[in-house]
Amino acid sequence: MPMTCNWRDAGLVAAGALGGASLLLLCSQLRTAAARRSVELEPLEVRQAEERKAWLQQQLANHLKGTTAMAMVYLGDQLKLYKTMSSRNGWTASRLAKAAGGLKVRLVQEWLAQQAACGILDFEVETQSFSLPKAAAALLAEDLSGSFFAPYATMMLACWKRMPTMIQAFRGQCLAPTYDEAGEDLADAMARLHVPEARFHFIPKVLPLVQGGSLLKRLTNEQILCADVGASGADVTIEMATQFPTATFHAYEVANPALHRARANVKQKGLRNLQVVDAKVDPLGSSKTKYDFIMCYDVLHDLSDPEQLMREVREVLAPDGVWVIVDITSEGDMTNNIESHPKAATYYGISVCVCLPSGLSADGGRGLGTLGFPPDLAEPMFHNSGFSRVRSFKMPGLEKNQVYEVQI
Ligand SMILES: C[S@@+](CC[C@H](N)C(=O)[O-])C[C@H]1O[C@@H](n2cnc3c(N)ncnc32)[C@H](O)[C@@H]1O
Repeated sequence: MPMTCNWRDAGLVAAGALGGASLLLLCSQLRTAAARRSVELEPLEVRQAEERKAWLQQQLANHLKGTTAMAMVYLGDQLKLYKTMSSRNGWTASRLAKAAGGLKVRLVQEWLAQQAACGILDFEVETQSFSLPKAAAALLAEDLSGSFFAPYATMMLACWKRMPTMIQAFRGQCLAPTYDEAGEDLADAMARLHVPEARFHFIPKVLPLVQGGSLLKRLTNEQILCADVGASGADVTIEMATQFPTATFHAYEVANPALHRARANVKQKGLRNLQVVDAKVDPLGSSKTKYDFIMCYDVLHDLSDPEQLMREVREVLAPDGVWVIVDITSEGDMTNNIESHPKAATYYGISVCVCLPSGLSADGGRGLGTLGFPPDLAEPMFHNSGFSRVRSFKMPGLEKNQVYEVQI
């Protein structure tokens, strides 16, 4: 008979009755006895279970290290420690604390030690000094390097902050939270991740492929009307409006922190060809004018009613217009994602904290989730919503993104 793992339960029951030391002794005796019995009965299975446990323990230790590393990355990013360090090599804690604006030396010293221990910083023993290697600077100090990673730390903070609400949502005590409750952190992380994507991939590599290049020509030369729906803080819309000054852009958003950021951003840039629209008051579908180009960047899988937005776009897209959707690449259904998506563990986690709650934030919400909008689901949805031409392709140079080109 295979061993059942009951020594642990016995130990837990005994925990109430015995003190810590006696409990440890009891557990160890039970474990030894169980192991001896099992070795006799199912040696291979027991060995495999032990190996699996050792493997998982190592995995969890790595995850714990990763979690603490991302918390420290958040500090390094927000306190501009990476940016400060990128100007030269050979930093001591006191020098860095001063250069970063008068920080507490002892705290900076511990942060430096952690960063060196996890391989982000180089540490020189002779001089007891620290340096930020070029590769680390590209990932952590340079917003527009094209491989900037630090905003994921802010995204993780946004995830942790909403855990109490998520516990209530899991228990059915409230609806899942929207982007409103995610506050400034998430809008900030989105902006810092998506602006480089737009600048280095979406604008130069995707737009030339849409409508055989004619969208890019129209954006460059004509006074066309464009909508960015689910624009968050309008950071990507600003990239577009700056790049294409003859076109007019409307940035539609529903979340108040994002709308606030968008309005402040647009005011600060002084752009005349960009207006922020509160989609709660003026939804896209209520527009009296037709749009030549509509974009949704990382939005569709977040919507509680994606079909409703599809119908609205169908209403307001000009007959020769085009809707371009960027969404997260999915391998298809859950089985395929678990088995084949290289980032499934990360994306399913982000989904639980951010995207799925948004999709479930209304009664009857569709709840697609981060990996829930693959082409085999999306394409029939577009067709059923009245679009006859649908084409999908991976974003060139950034295969984490799937692009849909949708026309009437
Ligand atoms: C992942 S964010 C999009 C990021 C943004 N497009 C960018 O490129 O940085 C998804 C956004 O869609 C917004 N949203 C959700 N439902 C919406 C709706 N019906 N109309 C407009 N925006 C919506 C959310 O509030 C959230 O800010």
